[in-house]
Amino acid sequence: MKIVIAGGSGFLGKALTGYFTNKNIEVTILSRKPQKSSRLVKEVYWDGRTLQDWRHELEGTEALINLSGKSVDCRYTEANKQQIYASRLASTRVLGEAVRQCIHPPKAWLNSSSATIYKGSYDKFMDEQHGEIGHDFSMDVCRKWEAVFNECITPQTRQVALRTSIVLDVTGGALVPLIKLVKAGLGGAMGSGKQFFSWIHVHDFCSVIEWLIQKPVTGVYNVCSPQPVCNSDFMKSLRHSLHVRIALSLPTPLLECGAALIRTETELVLKSRKVYPQRLLDEEFVFEFPDLKTALEDLCQVEAKRS
Ligand SMILES: NC(=O)c1ccc[n+]([C@@H]2O[C@H](COP(=O)([O-])OP(=O)(O)OC[C@H]3O[C@@H](n4cnc5c(N)ncnc54)[C@H](OP(=O)(O)O)[C@@H]3O)[C@@H](O)[C@H]2O)c1
Repeated sequence: MKIVIAGGSGFLGKALTGYFTNKNIEVTILSRKPQKSSRLVKEVYWDGRTLQDWRHELEGTEALINLSGKSVDCRYTEANKQQIYASRLASTRVLGEAVRQCIHPPKAWLNSSSATIYKGSYDKFMDEQHGEIGHDFSMDVCRKWEAVFNECITPQTRQVALRTSIVLDVTGGALVPLIKLVKAGLGGAMGSGKQFFSWIHVHDFCSVIEWLIQKPVTGVYNVCSPQPVCNSDFMKSLRHSLHVRIALSLPTPLLECGAALIRTETELVLKSRKVYPQRLLDEEFVFEFPDLKTALEDLCQVEAKRS
């Protein structure tokens, strides 16, 4: 069994590569800077835009997973916005062409999107059927990303769009800077603290991906735990898991200054994301870490062993 991960060199790609190779599954990573290959991991050059020899890697594979895209952890300058759009749309488009040209195309194509596609919400749960999609920059990126994906007609390949929430792990992603803040005594509420935070433990993220590859499913899936929490509860749970008592809050103006200083945007922590994995639950996916306390305790134990 072989899986191809475009953009597999990043945070989620590394998590998935570890998960699948532990099960003796071969992984091919498409990267703009391929590293040395190993027994189960082959790294192949692509530019994320043009159809080249890499397309042969898709032949006869179980699944293609596309995670390519310039990180959104940056200032939303015009230049960065253009790269955020271009890297996601061009990679999706060219993968669609590659799948179409295969003699034996991948059985499934899972393309990244984001739970950020939904409007900010403090009350309503955003599920796949009733969630409202908005028009600001981040939501527009996701809409266009999914639109390009849906325009790719791949009759022999199941297509699944991944509306993934913030993935929690101690090796990368959003949890790493949050742990640093808490350890520095700055782990109080951010902004009002009332904004919701949708999340998923990295282990559940990987098993959702495996489940979506194995089941005969298509369409959009919210990839998040069923229990989003508000920011102040999230920070409180993280403090408890890290055994930190001191917690200064970070009001919005301070966050704005900090974000400008470290060249990122406050949207990443201030938008209220209340997303619900209705399809996964209806179709009986079983989460190992459905609640935040257990998830953070598990991750903070891993963190303690690492440091
Ligand atoms: N992390 C999360 O919690 C989260 C949540 C929701 C959605 N997502 C989405 O899931 C995807 C993967 O997330 P991640 O955290 O693993 O991101 P990541 O660590 O930034 O990795 C993304 C990969 O995309 C490739 N890439 C970067 N800029 C590119 C460009 N201009 N053209 C083509 N490829 C480019 C890079 O691979 P090479 O440099 O090797 O080419 C990079 O390793 C992203 O699209 C992200 O928006 C992530």
